[in-house]
Amino acid sequence: MTAPEFLARLDASLRPYLVGMLPARASVAFYSWARQFALRMLAERECPLAIEPPPTAARVLWGIRFRAPLLNAAGMFKHGEGYELAYRQGAGAYLAGTTTARPRLGNVRRGIAQPFVPYPRSRAASNWLGLPNPGHRAVAARIAQLPRYEGFPIGASVALDPGDDSAAALERLVEGMNRYADAGVDFFELNESCPNTGEDQRGFDLLGVRLEAIAQQFVRPSGKPTLVKVSVDVEQGALERLIPLLVELGYAGITIGNTSTRYEQHRAAIAPVERRAYSYFTRTFGGGISGEPLRKSMLHLVESARTIAAGLPSQFHVIAVGGIANGEHLRQALTAGAALAQWYTGYFERFAHDGHRLYARVLAEAGA
Ligand SMILES: Cc1cc2nc3c(=O)[nH]c(=O)nc-3n(C[C@H](O)[C@H](O)[C@H](O)COP(=O)(O)O)c2cc1C
Repeated sequence: MTAPEFLARLDASLRPYLVGMLPARASVAFYSWARQFALRMLAERECPLAIEPPPTAARVLWGIRFRAPLLNAAGMFKHGEGYELAYRQGAGAYLAGTTTARPRLGNVRRGIAQPFVPYPRSRAASNWLGLPNPGHRAVAARIAQLPRYEGFPIGASVALDPGDDSAAALERLVEGMNRYADAGVDFFELNESCPNTGEDQRGFDLLGVRLEAIAQQFVRPSGKPTLVKVSVDVEQGALERLIPLLVELGYAGITIGNTSTRYEQHRAAIAPVERRAYSYFTRTFGGGISGEPLRKSMLHLVESARTIAAGLPSQFHVIAVGGIANGEHLRQALTAGAALAQWYTGYFERFAHDGHRLYARVLAEAGA
């Protein structure tokens, strides 16, 4: 057993008691630090295995071969680290970022940097990291140096500098995307804050202008498949407006979805002993909820998105993310119409349980 596997297993056995019993601020302070420490250690240590998924698991999207239908979600490898790890563990692709044009340190509040807390009994987590990252350029330069493997595409998750959708900010984003394309990135995921409801006319107008500019300046000239990632809080009406727009502009698909801010709705899914930490986190930081509570809405939205896209003339794919932690969840996402799936919260749950064999086990459970 490697050191990261041992520590993850140890932590998994202590976590339910720590989060349930420690004062809420102490849990958040500890796990905000521990998350960063664990990720660094996991990405830096060599994975002793090199697992090749079975050929039956492969799929081809936009002419690109993905050797398996499951990969890491955005935000896991924000610095472009963990590429060899993902390859050796048997992921279907590698997704770097999210990066922004300007490097960011992330949020600090009440003396806690990049606030994060897991709710292990609820298979969920909260985070309010604030998009910490070293910038498009730094990560693109790192990706340019990576060896390439057949059937293991590289994606880059990118976003506008938060709070700035000026023409200059758009130009910086496009410049960053071009750097990634020059570095050999195969596909992109644009991390968008999109209006949640179909009624938000002003929100849609602003989004439409942004998406049109990015399509014109990058998506169409580069020909690189570019997905748009939206929150799981997006409503059916918003999807009905957004998907035809994406198809018209030449986007390659939609990723559903990012974390939720429906704190009251998800409260019932949080185990009673973890509600103290949940209330503290959502009141103090807000942030996004990930994991198990998202899966139901995610599946529903993936199915709707697939139905909407089916009537449109293009190779438009739906990528599922939210609450996937085992083969049955993966199977449900693919059955709902997703072409690929990603995971974040479930990845760590399974790493604690299965170590570096986590992808192999989940694919076997899914019958992939
Ligand atoms: C600690 C943390 C950091 C995240 N950072 C990002 C990010 O930088 N960009 C992004 O698009 N999503 C980010 N996400 C959202 C995930 O990519 C994913 O959409 C969400 O967690 C739902 O998937 P899950 O239930 O498998 O965790 C982050 C999630 C977590 C828990």
